[in-house]
Amino acid sequence: MVSAGVNFGTESIRGTGIDLGEELQQLKRQRNAVILAHNYQVPELQDVADFVGDSLGLSYQAAKTDADVILFCGVHFMAETAKIINPAKRVILPDLDAGCSLSESCPSEKLAQFLKEHADKNYYVIAYINCSAGVKAQSDVICTSGNADKIVHAAPGDRNILFVPDQNLGAWVMERTGRKMDLWQGTCYVHVEFTARSIAKIREEYPDAPVVAHPECTYAVRMLADEVCSTEKMVTFCKESPAQEIIVVTEAGLLHRLHKEIPDKTFIPGPTDNCFCGECRFMKMNTLEKAYDALLNMEPEITLPEPVRKRAEAPILRMLELSK
Ligand code: 13P
Ligand code: SF4
Repeated sequence: MVSAGVNFGTESIRGTGIDLGEELQQLKRQRNAVILAHNYQVPELQDVADFVGDSLGLSYQAAKTDADVILFCGVHFMAETAKIINPAKRVILPDLDAGCSLSESCPSEKLAQFLKEHADKNYYVIAYINCSAGVKAQSDVICTSGNADKIVHAAPGDRNILFVPDQNLGAWVMERTGRKMDLWQGTCYVHVEFTARSIAKIREEYPDAPVVAHPECTYAVRMLADEVCSTEKMVTFCKESPAQEIIVVTEAGLLHRLHKEIPDKTFIPGPTDNCFCGECRFMKMNTLEKAYDALLNMEPEITLPEPVRKRAEAPILRMLELSK
């Protein structure tokens, strides 16, 4: 049971000395909910989550949970993915406006129009998971930064591939697999802020520190990195690297997990050329207060028209099967 006097939303909790994280845990048990959080979420949300990980890990967790409710602390496309593969569960997102610049770059109507205009290409569409359900519904298979090369390797050899929506991740996978693909011209507004100049400069300051970068970074930045990988693989890289100092070129939220799990090493956040903080404004829309209120009120809830959900489910399940 939620303690007396605190089940009226966070207004009744602020200033009372009540531990909101603990209240959220109680509410979670009451609702038979699971809390999933992405590596970029604010520390308070990572600390209350049952699982913290990258998009791929979160998809597997969403696929296997037997909870009735998923409180998804991430951005909209992540919670939507959880709903697509869990139609009978209630999926709650603390802030419904938590979007993604990559997802925005590829509206489903624009993709439909493009596919219509290029019907002669008979595209096999590979969609990076950072896209809407409407885009997933038009795709053959989904991928994440954690499994993109596996998914591209498995694509039929006799088909033209259209990769949407991230041009940088797409170019990186082309380099790794040798497979030619047509790339949608989307970008992550956070990762393109890192430049060759800013990374070269920090390398000079820390000559012994390896650079690990996310594949959403530009080619020029990826060229300067010792390792390019998903956020989950970054955690593994940092654990396994003999280096004491590591330069981490991705959204700043990952630093919390790195400090927590690898307290004896120093992590240097990848700098930019300007005063950009390296934080994704969408990821940071979720707060502990909003998460508590969302689970208390069971909204905002992710809902989808069933025909779209059904069509979007198949390429996600294909991905989960292929990347086992
Ligand atoms: P990961 O799947 O590597 O965690 O990346 C998700 C994302 O949104 C990167 O900006
Ligand atoms: Fe989207 Fe970039 Fe934010 Fe990831 S960091 S959610 S790709 S805008």
